[in-house]
Amino acid sequence: MTKLWTRMIAAAAVAWAAAPAYAETLEVTSPDGKITVTVKDDGGQATYAVSFEGEQVIAPSKLGMLFAEHHGFERGLAIAGSARASQNTTWEQPWGERRLVRDQHNELSVTFRAAEGPDRQMTVRFRAFDTGIGFRYELPEQAALQGDIAIVEELTQFGVGDKTTMWYTPSDEYNRNEYIYRVAPAGEVDDAHTPSTFRTTTGIHFAIHEAALVNYSSMSLDQLRPGNFQANLRNWSGGPKVKTKAPFTSPWRTIQIAREAVGLINSDIILNLNEPNALGDVSYAKPGKYVGIWWAMHINDRTWASDKYHGATTAETKRYIDFAAKHGFAGVLVEGWNKGWDGDWFNNGDLFSFTEPYPDYDIAGLSKYAAAKGVQLIVHHETSANLTNYEKQLAAGLDLVRKIGSHYVKSGYVSDAGDAVWVDDKGIRHYEYYDSQRMIDHHMTVIKAAAERQIAMDTHEPVKDTGLRRTYPNWMTREGARGMEFNAWGTPPNPPSHEPMLAFTALLAGPFDYTPGIFDLRPNERPPVRPDMPRGDPKNRPQTTLAKQLATYVTIYSPLQMAADLPENYEARPEAFQFIKDVEADWEESIALAGEVGQYVAFARQGRKSKEWFLGAVTDHEPRDLSLPLSFLETGRKYRAQIYRDGPHAHWDYNPYDIVIEEKVVTGGDTFAVRLAASGGVAVRFIPVK
Ligand code: NOJ
Ligand code: CA
Repeated sequence: MTKLWTRMIAAAAVAWAAAPAYAETLEVTSPDGKITVTVKDDGGQATYAVSFEGEQVIAPSKLGMLFAEHHGFERGLAIAGSARASQNTTWEQPWGERRLVRDQHNELSVTFRAAEGPDRQMTVRFRAFDTGIGFRYELPEQAALQGDIAIVEELTQFGVGDKTTMWYTPSDEYNRNEYIYRVAPAGEVDDAHTPSTFRTTTGIHFAIHEAALVNYSSMSLDQLRPGNFQANLRNWSGGPKVKTKAPFTSPWRTIQIAREAVGLINSDIILNLNEPNALGDVSYAKPGKYVGIWWAMHINDRTWASDKYHGATTAETKRYIDFAAKHGFAGVLVEGWNKGWDGDWFNNGDLFSFTEPYPDYDIAGLSKYAAAKGVQLIVHHETSANLTNYEKQLAAGLDLVRKIGSHYVKSGYVSDAGDAVWVDDKGIRHYEYYDSQRMIDHHMTVIKAAAERQIAMDTHEPVKDTGLRRTYPNWMTREGARGMEFNAWGTPPNPPSHEPMLAFTALLAGPFDYTPGIFDLRPNERPPVRPDMPRGDPKNRPQTTLAKQLATYVTIYSPLQMAADLPENYEARPEAFQFIKDVEADWEESIALAGEVGQYVAFARQGRKSKEWFLGAVTDHEPRDLSLPLSFLETGRKYRAQIYRDGPHAHWDYNPYDIVIEEKVVTGGDTFAVRLAASGGVAVRFIPVK
């Protein structure tokens, strides 16, 4: 039994001794005194409320949980005990947005005892940080919670207010998390994924999400009454929402809060609410940049299938390995190397083999070739969300990855949201949602099997990130939002607001393998390569300037960062390509300097290896003059700033390639003024002058 559970059971003994009162109010405040959580049991109802600088952010909102076959926690609840603690520590990440993370919070755990029905209790543990709060349910082992438990409802509510502005993607549609962000008064939103981001009518920003999603199902937000959302847990097909046993804990429900929008980004509460590294040495999970046989398929130059346009051939892979070695990329992703792609792969996930290459892909020879050039192959595992087919081959598939000298897998779960399939012992097929408990368990199985073999994962069509990279740092990156691929075939493509939106929404959850760096900005206007496959709609294209493509290497964080375009498109623009070669993928420190949700954002990040600072800023369709303080540089010190900015006539639609690449000497502490074009950007590398 863990220390935590021993403490909880001790607290329970005290709790049971007290009589229900229904009039208790408890508070916990952040270390800086700005955020307060108020917990009550008025009328036998467990509630919490949150304020920032004295202003209400979350109105008094219900807490509780219902079970299928056990008495739940809903009515007749009295606060029967509480405990307090504080923490102020710093811990180190093996890789990340910053090396050192400070965890400073005040904690209040409140034990509610049910007066009706069998005697039972639940604890809700709250943590108040300077940048937000988290709380979770802790259900100790007890007489009233014996045997298998089926959670049918978590009653957690978020009273955000109907007029509060909300940026969100829908949670109940077929395309999982891959939507263009929407904005509406919260009172008009039916259902939403987390992170969802909000701004109150008085200008306070907050974001609702969850941390440490394990042994549970994913939470989305469901509108109960205008401006009041309930935590909606994804259910098992034909079953409850969560299957568990006491003792158990829920994931943390998190609310990041800040006056300025960038304050949401400059917050580590999601990571702080996860458990420490459970894997020990993860030096094999090295951050870095990669190229790959990938975009060529998305723009219909090549196929994943083994026809005459097959992309993953030995010769083509060598060409990419050569290119990676020449330009200093650590990895080469190869999609379509394995059997299973021929035919309708979207619906035939049971045909994928994770051990058998196509005959024109010399896996052994290529692994030697890559090793000789100091490059690692990133092995692709598309599952089409056939969980059983992947689980059966997992050990052999991962063993092969190590056998060919690789430490990296990119996986994929292409399917409609409710079509992740597993087959039980009787051969019956069960279709689950991609964010159901079955899927959460599947991802953990994969991550643990990968860790046993020193393999790092990049998961596409994943469940959203909840900071588990702290506990399992081999889960390096994932997709989980609308990526670059939509600019090849999505209709509509990602709008100019997409990149500045991501920073304040999806990226609050964690890294995103967006696959930036497209240099041929009108790929669908090129003559088709394949007579059987015309190009896509020419309206599908990255709606950005070239400078904005470079800036996203700084504004979109991923420890595995792709240079997604074709080698020939980089070779055609070597000056701009230089920034992608120079920028790092692992950071000593990251600071969101300025921005507004979906409009613009500017970041400064310090490379972990070189200690050089980089700056990146992106804007939506509005051109913008930015004045950014160089306060992250050493005051008074001179730096050579290598600047990649929009040219005077740049515009994402009719002049995207107008770029100025120049070097200037700047001084730490000065202000850096720059103009961003419509859907433009700026990328800067600062080299200290000796
Ligand atoms: C969707 C992924 O996001 C993309 O990167 C990949 O190329 C395709 N699936 C095929 O697996
Ligand atoms: Ca995808």
